[in-house]
This record gives sequence, C-alpha cells and structure tokens, in this order.
Amino acid sequence: GAPIEVDLAPISDGQIVNVFWRGKLIFVRKLTEKEITDMKAVPLSEMIDPAPFDKRVKAGHDQWLVAYGNCTHLGCVPIGHSGNYEGWACPCHGSQFDAVGRVRRGPAPINLPIPPYAFETDTKLKIG
Ligand code: FES
Repeated sequence: GAPIEVDLAPISDGQIVNVFWRGKLIFVRKLTEKEITDMKAVPLSEMIDPAPFDKRVKAGHDQWLVAYGNCTHLGCVPIGHSGNYEGWACPCHGSQFDAVGRVRRGPAPINLPIPPYAFETDTKLKIG
C-alpha cells in the first residue's frame, strides 16, 4: 500500500483521530502536556511490555502518538479516553492501554505496535 498523509493542523490537544493505512486502523493522538508528563513518569517495572516514553514517540515530535488501533489480544478496537491509564480500554476482555499505547492491563500481551511514519513538516504526517 502507498503511504498516506495526515494533516495534523486540525487536531487539538488530547484528540484521537482514526485513520486507515493498508486496511489497518491507526490511532493518531495529540498528547496533552499532562499526558506527556504522566507517561514519562511511569516506571518500567509497572509495565507488562516495558517501553520508555521516548521509544513510543519521535524526538522533536513527542506530542504525537501513532499506533495501530487493534487490541494486541484478539484484535478488538479499544475505546479511547477510557480505562485507568489515560488511554484506551478494550471492550472485549478488559485490556487497558495508556496514553502512548502501552499495555497496562492484560490479557493483551504487548503494546500497540507503531507503524512506519515520518513528519514531513510539523503539521504533515506520512504513514507508510
Ligand atoms: Fe482486547 Fe481481548 S481483544 S482484551
């Protein structure tokens, strides 16, 4: 599949936008300053699939999370801005993900994967 471009300009702080690339749902989320602070502060020891904040975002663009939008358990679509970790809760079997898509409660075994992406400008994202 060809890359897609996402215009980031209309996305406000805290907003989650759903896009599709190669038939897969992808979440594009603009983190708030509080979410960034909170996500940086989570100890790796509290995570199921430990990943520091800076492995979940790109340097210089750390307000943006780009992650596949299907639960890593059995593929349901988690609900945004729900659960206990400022992220997503899966309606199927209760997995929870934090604001940067790290799994914080199972049964999902791993974090939401990150697709290939790049910033063409500060407001233009290319996925793929
Ligand atoms: Fe999400 Fe099972 S598919 S918890």
